[in-house]
Amino acid sequence: MPSEAAELSVIVLAAGAGTRMKSRKPKILHEIAGLPMIGHALSAVRSLEPQRLAAVVRHERELVAAKISELDPAALIVDQDEVPGTGRAVQVALQAFDVAQGEPIDGTVLVSYGDVPLLTTDLLRELIAVHRQDSNAVTVLTAVLQDATGYGRILRSAEGTVLGIREHKDASDAEREIREINSGIYVFDAALLREGLRQVTTDNAQGEMYLTDVLGIAVAAGRRVAAVVTDDRWQVEGANDRVQLAALGAELNRRILEAWMRAGVTVVDPGSTWVDVQVKLSEDVTLLPGSQLHGSTFVERDAVVGPDCTLTDVQIGEAATVTRTHGSGAIVLAGATVGPFSYLRPGTVLGEAGKIGAFYETKNVRIGARSKLSHLGYAGDAEIGEDTNIGCGNITANYDGEKKHRTVIGSGVRTGSNTVFVAPVEVGDGAYSGAGAVLRKSVPPGALALSIAAQRNLEQWVIDHRPGSQSAELAQAALSALEISTHQSIDPSAEEGK
Ligand code: UD1
Ligand code: CA
Repeated sequence: MPSEAAELSVIVLAAGAGTRMKSRKPKILHEIAGLPMIGHALSAVRSLEPQRLAAVVRHERELVAAKISELDPAALIVDQDEVPGTGRAVQVALQAFDVAQGEPIDGTVLVSYGDVPLLTTDLLRELIAVHRQDSNAVTVLTAVLQDATGYGRILRSAEGTVLGIREHKDASDAEREIREINSGIYVFDAALLREGLRQVTTDNAQGEMYLTDVLGIAVAAGRRVAAVVTDDRWQVEGANDRVQLAALGAELNRRILEAWMRAGVTVVDPGSTWVDVQVKLSEDVTLLPGSQLHGSTFVERDAVVGPDCTLTDVQIGEAATVTRTHGSGAIVLAGATVGPFSYLRPGTVLGEAGKIGAFYETKNVRIGARSKLSHLGYAGDAEIGEDTNIGCGNITANYDGEKKHRTVIGSGVRTGSNTVFVAPVEVGDGAYSGAGAVLRKSVPPGALALSIAAQRNLEQWVIDHRPGSQSAELAQAALSALEISTHQSIDPSAEEGK
């Protein structure tokens, strides 16, 4: 009786060329839902917790191997030699396992592809469970398609038992009528697989070692071969070109959103909302139309995101709202508001109940609780305390042309419109700055910093210097209407004292 704990080895085939992508990038490195196809494939099989996992590479070897090692450092990279075909790919992986083990491995071997990104761990578990319960030598995952062109066809006896697989190019007209296809995903008994591959030749229409031939070989040896038929064709679908890639991407996104909606997330318009597979959302999060959440973005309870946000690796705290914002590598704490039209760059931390408003760009800036940067500005390489109000149009001049410098602004600060912080500079707690101040020197706590010269009004200047202009005429009319003598000057100091 085979035990549930029997050894599991996994082989992911990733040596193919994928020429129909018409891309300099290897096919399986093309991304959907925030991961390359090979990333989805690896995570589906890694979740089975196999004893060993190999990926077979050949085409674009360096790029593909590097990405696989980055995604799954424990994966064994196996090089396929010049012998073509899926059979050879599996054979070299099996040999690598045997070498690493120091003796032929046994147990169960799962073979999967690097380009079937919607395949789930659950379906693989089912395949393995059937294989073990029924003591099969081979269990193949199949699907029944309207158009089976190009696929290997499942050959069955009159009683319905699986007899083997015929590749499309080798099939007779009658065999091409068969609509049950080989997904290319199988579970094998390790010893049977090793022995079967020894008998596989390249004597076929494509001159390749077909893995599919192992099924017929097993049947001939009197072993049990069976199929698990899935009615979810997406799970066995590979992306061979960019049209299929987009279709798979849209379907995966639909599935991701459906899972989040069932987990308590409101998605107002699933059609215009894109959520990567690694994003995490909480109950009662609302995603408004046109929002794209990428990478390790994490949104906490009651937060509202959108419309029209693109967020990559952004953390959003409870009940925060982020509207029409482009952000990456930022943290928005509970109750804070961002947008509309904000640009959050990496290292932005917005404190609880803080605000980053319209047309603000932030980078590498820590903003304390309840502090507000409401309109039109740039804050970079800065630290801002709590309960501070940064006026409209404020800018940290953090770059001297060579190096970046820090701006440190305290708590309870009020800065006037268009203040420029020429870093390095510090503004103490409770300090104010006047409108248009250019702060080149630090401001002590509680001080009002003014850097603009007092205003002077040159009376009549326009009338004298632009005679005959529309401005001069309007000015003359206004002055006459006010019955103010054009020769009497106003004392500027009296104005300032108000
Ligand atoms: C294969 C199956 C076919 C099945 C179809 C499902 C064989 C002989 N045929 O056909 O029955 O219906 O998949 O998609 O197995 N690969 C390697 N090394 C190679 C050749 C391929 O690693 O030498 C990898 C590819 O990268 C790919 C997978 O194996 O991930 C399938 O290869 P592909 O050329 O697409 O096989 P098909 O001819 O489509
Ligand atoms: Ca294929």
